[in-house]
Amino acid sequence: MNTISTRGTEALLAVMAVAVAAYAFLAYALLPAGVHVGEPMQEVYRLNPIVIHTHAFAAGLALLLGPWQFSSRLRARRPQLHRWVGRIYLVAGIVVGGVSGLLLSRLAQGGWVAQLGFACLAIAWLYTGYRGYRAIRRGERAQHRRWMLRNHALTLAAVSLRLYIPLFLASGVPFELAYPVIAWICWVPHLLIAQWWLGRKPQVATGALPTMPR
Ligand code: HEM
Repeated sequence: MNTISTRGTEALLAVMAVAVAAYAFLAYALLPAGVHVGEPMQEVYRLNPIVIHTHAFAAGLALLLGPWQFSSRLRARRPQLHRWVGRIYLVAGIVVGGVSGLLLSRLAQGGWVAQLGFACLAIAWLYTGYRGYRAIRRGERAQHRRWMLRNHALTLAAVSLRLYIPLFLASGVPFELAYPVIAWICWVPHLLIAQWWLGRKPQVATGALPTMPR
């Protein structure tokens, strides 16, 4: 991919991430929990208001903060800002958003296949965040970048999920069939794409993700 299309893709992903985060903040701050989702989901959210609100705000924060962390210009000019935003992203976003996502996975619609899909996503999200943190604490910047790229690819599952649901429903696939599939395809392809990206020619991989100042 050339630089212009790479930048275009990054910008589009950032816009979609901010749009979904805005949805999470506005919908869950201003409206009763889950008024815009189906009745069975709404019932679960009514019974578990703390976990759904915690999840929507924390995971929304991760979605909002993530894209800026990959800006080489920001990292070079404001390394302290990168560190602080990174800490907030990991603790408030990934740890709180991931643990609440894991709790929610047991209550998700779509039966055990969907529940397992969301649970695996939550575990992968927490694990990649932990590896990214551990790598930077050890001073392994290249490994830090690689794990955080995987982690952010998983954060973007929230965007794909909200694109797939209307697409499947518009194609006439019933929700009960669509949702278990979506719970997996909203994130597994993201990880594969991130892995493919990281596995490209070494000079491209390192050049595409510039060095993060400590
Ligand atoms: C990446 C790890 C994530 C996991 C494992 C996860 C898991 C879940 C689960 C299981 C549900 C309940 C679904 C159901 O009731 O059927 C849910 C709902 C929700 N999640 Fe996440 N989630 C993740 C990331 C995110 C992100 C990054 C956002 C950012 C906006 C987000 C925002 C929401 C919202 C707003 C809901 C309520 C449903 C809705 O209004 O669309 N989640 N999540």
